[in-house]
Amino acid sequence: MNDGKKSHGGAKRGPSSKKSPRVTLIEGDGVGPEVIGAAISVIAATGVSIDWDRRSAGAAAMRQYGTPVPDALMESLARTRVALKGPLETQVGVGYRSINVHLRKAFDLYANLRPTVSFAGVHTPFRDVNLTVVRENTEDLYSGIEHEVAPGVVESVKVITARASTRIAKFAFDYARRMKRKSLTAIHKANIMKLSDGLFLKCARGVAKRYPDIKYSEQIVDAACMRLVTNPQSFDVLLLENLYGDIVSDLCAGLVGGLGLVPGANYGDKGAIFEAVHGTAPDIAKKNLANPIAAILSGAMLLDYLEHQREGDRIRASVGAVLRSGKTLTRDLGGKASTTAMTESIICAFART
Ligand code: NAI
Repeated sequence: MNDGKKSHGGAKRGPSSKKSPRVTLIEGDGVGPEVIGAAISVIAATGVSIDWDRRSAGAAAMRQYGTPVPDALMESLARTRVALKGPLETQVGVGYRSINVHLRKAFDLYANLRPTVSFAGVHTPFRDVNLTVVRENTEDLYSGIEHEVAPGVVESVKVITARASTRIAKFAFDYARRMKRKSLTAIHKANIMKLSDGLFLKCARGVAKRYPDIKYSEQIVDAACMRLVTNPQSFDVLLLENLYGDIVSDLCAGLVGGLGLVPGANYGDKGAIFEAVHGTAPDIAKKNLANPIAAILSGAMLLDYLEHQREGDRIRASVGAVLRSGKTLTRDLGGKASTTAMTESIICAFART
């Protein structure tokens, strides 16, 4: 069970000479402005001063500037190389391609890290889940190569390269070693996709040899899903390609109480974007109902990255304390608290951390 104090332990940026680091801020669509507003308030309450460079993207930018990726956004990200981001809307089947995928590719943010941990006070059928999803972020079926071969026949191209597979495996093993995790499971469908997933596994096996301290295993994705919902405690670090990682991380969020609780980060060698696993939650947007914890914990991961790990730990401890007390719970957790009430409780809990 999460004691609420442990760092989520992603990569770190080198020490900044500036007192207030400049960070691009993308509020996002749907519940984005509400949960990102909460994360900013909590970060401010830690005393860490951040010079936020506010930029719009996605549907909000489309309305304002007629494009979902304004040049000013890309220029800001190229300058700051770090962002806190709310979810962005992507229409199903029609419309522009995912801006999330675009940003991850444009800045080569190849590693998506999603620490998924049980909290005392959150009632789910599972206790003591403590696993981390490491998802490859730049290729696979997200290559964006789709075409109609003939009327009624389309092809989507799955691209897997040795370079991307090796570097994500190395990232996952480095993370496991740094965080003193014991085991890593590569999840795949190489029984069917023998070449593509076969290459992914070959690369993972090659990297695994250099980390004898981390127990390496492999599991087919369907069997892994069954094991996740029957014995999630048996997993530690999960290494997945892009599509499986996307799907399995929402499943993992369900194990610990839902999407409102799970933070995330996209890391590259030269930058990072911090964002919750969840999307725009249009069903609850602008109603002050969204759980802000996933965004707040993503903010804590941002602080770790900016070398303010003590403050990141304080945020995690405060979130843990509020959930443990059970007095303030948002609707997704079975309570009645609003987004703002949850945020205020977390800020008040600072006094006790
Ligand atoms: P979603 O994650 O927005 O919502 C799924 C369910 O979880 C909904 O019932 C929602 O109310 C609930 N939920 C999500 N976040 C919550 C929170 N913070 N507190 C309480 N409940 C929460 O997924 P959906 O509906 O599939 O996608 C909606 C839009 O979001 C789509 O346009 C999709 O493309 C986009 N999306 C964007 C992401 C990003 O920007 N990183 C990630 C996932 C989806």
